Amino acid sequence: MRHRGWFVAVALVAIALLALVGCTKKEAPKQEAAKTEALQTAQKPTGKPAPSGEVTIFSWWTAGGEAEGLQALIDLLEKKYPGVKVVNAAVAGGAGTNAKAVLKTRMLGGNPPDSFQVHGGSELIDTWVKAGLMEPITYIYEDEGWLDKFPKGLIDMISYSGEIFAVPANVHRGNLLWYNKKIFESHKLKPPETFDEFFAVCEKLKAAGITPLALASRNKWPVAHLFETILLGVGGPGFYRDLFGGKIAWTDERVKKSLGILAKMMNYVNSDHAALTWDQASGLVLAGKAAMNIMGDWAKGYFTANAWVPELDFGAVPSPGTKGSFIVITDTFGLPRGAKNADAARAFLKVVGSVEGQVAFNLKKGSIPARTDVPTDEFDPIAKRTMEDFSKDELVPSCVHGSAAVELFATALNDEISIFIQNKDVDATAKALEAAARDAGLRR
Ligand code: GAL
Repeated sequence: MRHRGWFVAVALVAIALLALVGCTKKEAPKQEAAKTEALQTAQKPTGKPAPSGEVTIFSWWTAGGEAEGLQALIDLLEKKYPGVKVVNAAVAGGAGTNAKAVLKTRMLGGNPPDSFQVHGGSELIDTWVKAGLMEPITYIYEDEGWLDKFPKGLIDMISYSGEIFAVPANVHRGNLLWYNKKIFESHKLKPPETFDEFFAVCEKLKAAGITPLALASRNKWPVAHLFETILLGVGGPGFYRDLFGGKIAWTDERVKKSLGILAKMMNYVNSDHAALTWDQASGLVLAGKAAMNIMGDWAKGYFTANAWVPELDFGAVPSPGTKGSFIVITDTFGLPRGAKNADAARAFLKVVGSVEGQVAFNLKKGSIPARTDVPTDEFDPIAKRTMEDFSKDELVPSCVHGSAAVELFATALNDEISIFIQNKDVDATAKALEAAARDAGLRR
């Protein structure tokens, strides 16, 4: 029961994926053959001596919290396998803004990293697995006894054709509002739960000369991320799933209402948002220059990496209107075909999926472990609440972070929302999103 919403979400993603398979029937036979070969020739461990040598791990984790989380995994791997040396090939830019393009060049140019960060769902399956560029790694799950350790909904997001293709490092929650406790206390404010409360708080803060909401729009994704949370807040999880599942038009009144709310929010953001990245915007909250931001819980990783204490210096509540719903973002790692040091890559994957790895990584990253059998005592109260919510909330996938829709649409959403905050043209944006959904095969 508790994962009912999650299964519906996963089913919708699966339907979208099936639709895509239908669309790509005419693939070249060579590509088909490569796929079949990839699915059949899983590089099974050979029983050789312990892995050694350089192993290249690719991600976009360079900001505060992210970098520390990645380092915790690297440290564990190098401690466990002293002969292994990690080449950290991270490419800066939140949400993979720059990394995804670099990864594409490497993968298509026959120079894959040994393992890379990829979101579960469409980003992993449609972009890499279906192209025959990933090795199935179900045998690692069998060998490590992991098959019942990760929630079924997550396993479904990283599986294709009966095989598993990645190891989830975490679960991030996308729909959280972070607030500076000192500012809220000194202005006697309560963290807002609804859009009305949110705008009332914004008015008070603005009148007091404080920037209410920190925003970053130097990259397009943080605004699209904010918009995704507004869609969920306005329409609820059923609407959200149906919208990304292609059953509801993007010209729907609830989409237009969400755009209207985004336009209104723009009256309360920092004037330099076009110059800032997500972590710099979170830095405004940290410095007391802004009171709130709406961001995934990698923001918590950023705050704690900067010595801020959860529940003392900052608090978190579900973003307006989204109590009881949970936007799931999962960072996973897989094994690309042709990895130069596949043995060491497999050792890395085992560390990522181990109890020790899940704890060490998530304590720094701000997310919660993907495994459900991990001791929770070291986690802060916000993480503990997130774990509880994950077990009972309506779970929905993120589009901006690669799970809910194919890359073509996710990119279009980023583009259209970034144009929208300039022209605030609700009707034109809704129409453009509907056209993009049709172009991407999300809607027919
Ligand atoms: C997300 C990713 C998170 C975090 C964030 C900001 O896409 O899932 O782990 O890194 O981007 O970079």
